[in-house]
Amino acid sequence: MATQRTQKQQQQQERIDKQLQQIQHVIVVISGKGGVGKSTVAVNLAVTLSRKNYKVGLMDADIHGPNIPKMLGIERSQLMNTGNGAKPVMYYPNLKVVSIALMLQSTDDAVIWRGPLKHRLIEQFVGDIRWGDLDYLVIDLPPGTGDEPLSVAHVLKRIDGAIIVTTPQDVALLDSRKTVTFAEKLGIPVGGIVENMSGFVCPHCGKRTDIFKTGGGEKAAQELDVPFLGRIPLDPNMVTVCDSGDPYVEKYPTSEMAQAFLRIVEQCEQW
Ligand SMILES: Nc1ncnc2c1ncn2[C@@H]1O[C@H](COP(=O)(O)OP(=O)(O)OP(=O)(O)O)[C@@H](O)[C@H]1O
Ligand SMILES: [Mg+2]
Repeated sequence: MATQRTQKQQQQQERIDKQLQQIQHVIVVISGKGGVGKSTVAVNLAVTLSRKNYKVGLMDADIHGPNIPKMLGIERSQLMNTGNGAKPVMYYPNLKVVSIALMLQSTDDAVIWRGPLKHRLIEQFVGDIRWGDLDYLVIDLPPGTGDEPLSVAHVLKRIDGAIIVTTPQDVALLDSRKTVTFAEKLGIPVGGIVENMSGFVCPHCGKRTDIFKTGGGEKAAQELDVPFLGRIPLDPNMVTVCDSGDPYVEKYPTSEMAQAFLRIVEQCEQW
């Protein structure tokens, strides 16, 4: 029995290793706390990369709150089992998406799993998915420093950069510091900090208001001695497109936000 399990584990490891050889770069999107815009950043980063003609995979590693399929309007799609691994959902011909939400019967189903099961799922998300050749695999993580980031670090082994998403308040420093320490402990290089929800330009009068202050992310990057990747403004259109399943950078390709994502991608290209 034990030998059988070891053999199965070995085969799984071989599948994972084979898959990893086909993935050039891995980027994880992470934050100390919830609701700061990780999934938004992961989706728009993946779409910006694919608009630059890279072959991109987007892995939703948020097992309890998988939002990526809804944000891309593909929540009714399903991963297809082929007998030789599952086929990811194709958003574009060069953007493949995997999420537990694409495996559940209903969008209302809740997953109640402990660490070991989540770890096995992350292993399957790498080894049992037919990702094919990828230039970039972007991984969206749940908030904090729990099971999923640990499993992702363990299974992926080589991560090129973590993008830490934060909001502009002073407390951003506290959350970012924790996340930087966590990444360092796991041996994940910190790609840099993105300050999301940074300033709001009124669509009626054009006046800029810094609703959550400004500069917290940049200050955190300076104090923690990690790169600052840029600011993403608050934009009410973001909420609308997120809910309707259109990626913002595709719908508003000339916007300030789309430009910010292009600059983030330029920095990712250096990792
Ligand atoms: N720059 C922005 N402007 C306006 N709304 C935004 C912006 N960034 C994110 N949002 C909105 O904030 C909400 C939370 O964003 P998102 O789901 O990306 O955060 P998260 O960090 O992934 O959350 P969780 O920790 O729950 O996974 C969403 O409704 C999203 O549309
Ligand atoms: Mg999220």
